[in-house]
Amino acid sequence: MNSITIIRPDDWHLHLRDGAALQAVLPDTARQFARAIIMPNLRPPVTTTALAIAYRQRILEALKINPVRPDPFGHAQDRLVEGQSGSTGSPRTEAGFESYGFEPLMTLYLTDNTSADEIKKAKFSGMIHGVKLYPAGATTNSDMGVSDLGKCTAALEAMQAVGLPLLVHAEVTDSDVDIFDREKVFIDRHMVPLLQRYPSLKIIFEHITTKEAADFVASAPSNVAATITAHHLLMNRNDMFTGGIHPHHYCLPILKREEHRLALVKAATSGNAKFFLGTDSAPHAKNTKEAACGCAGMYTAHAAIELYAEAFEAADALDKLEAFASFYGADFYGLPRNTEQITLQKTSWTVPNELAMGNESLVLLRAGQQIHWKLI
Ligand code: DOR
Ligand code: ZN
Repeated sequence: MNSITIIRPDDWHLHLRDGAALQAVLPDTARQFARAIIMPNLRPPVTTTALAIAYRQRILEALKINPVRPDPFGHAQDRLVEGQSGSTGSPRTEAGFESYGFEPLMTLYLTDNTSADEIKKAKFSGMIHGVKLYPAGATTNSDMGVSDLGKCTAALEAMQAVGLPLLVHAEVTDSDVDIFDREKVFIDRHMVPLLQRYPSLKIIFEHITTKEAADFVASAPSNVAATITAHHLLMNRNDMFTGGIHPHHYCLPILKREEHRLALVKAATSGNAKFFLGTDSAPHAKNTKEAACGCAGMYTAHAAIELYAEAFEAADALDKLEAFASFYGADFYGLPRNTEQITLQKTSWTVPNELAMGNESLVLLRAGQQIHWKLI
């Protein structure tokens, strides 16, 4: 197959950060995706409706003021040409990415103190689509996360009552649990009791990385779903260590063994509507990744849909990409499916090494290497 046309996808798990980083990374997502679920782990975290609405406003401002940046891949220019020729049927201008109609879907950061009132406020704002559970200390900017789920009863009951989904970073933080087992252990210790206690709460098991998580979600009731990243579909833990240590392949949950990657590919390409696209693209400045104690997170937004296409093609399942990328997430969140289309072509291109991010730089996944699909 030399090209594939699908309904414009959405990214159901994305880190956009703030300030200069937001300015730098937003265009990559906005040129591919119609909507994205925006993670709230800023410093300070987005713990209230007021903070989420203010953050959303900063994202919309960044869309407006962000000129179509000189795009080393040519994507943006392609899209402008496409738009100007009217081939997609929707107006496109040179004003900026707001013309692409990108919509940030906001989330709240759950803490031990989140009140039922705050949850109701979030739901009725119409702009907040989920509440993110970070176990305290599990990952980047999670220190204000939840120390004990027992302290979140009022918030979780309110979420169940108003229909606001819980987005879970599902890893235990106990230092005696091996880092490669943290997701698996979380299922028994926390996910199972959570489902029993809140049987109609919508739960999204974020960025699943193990066969156990894929099996758990597949056999759970219909109010439980999962996102899967492109990097967990394409890489296993050898990619962190082969020939030396690769800090840009370090993320959380950490890459696992090949048998787990294969289980994720099977889930993503199964046609099961419980599994959908969430990149977890997580920008960190180069100097904070290439450090004695490097940050967790991979930046994949520059080639997100192309990387997924590569993973689906390798599994001989390109025909399953559209529903995974563009239908199942919207259906689960109760949002309308997009109607516009995008086209990917089988064309090889070389990923630039870095992207400027304010005064710093960002190293892109696959830097200096080729990707064989290209969004046109
Ligand atoms: O690798 C990760 N990076 N995992 C997360 O859970 C957070 C993310 C980030 O914000 O950098
Ligand atoms: Zn994340």
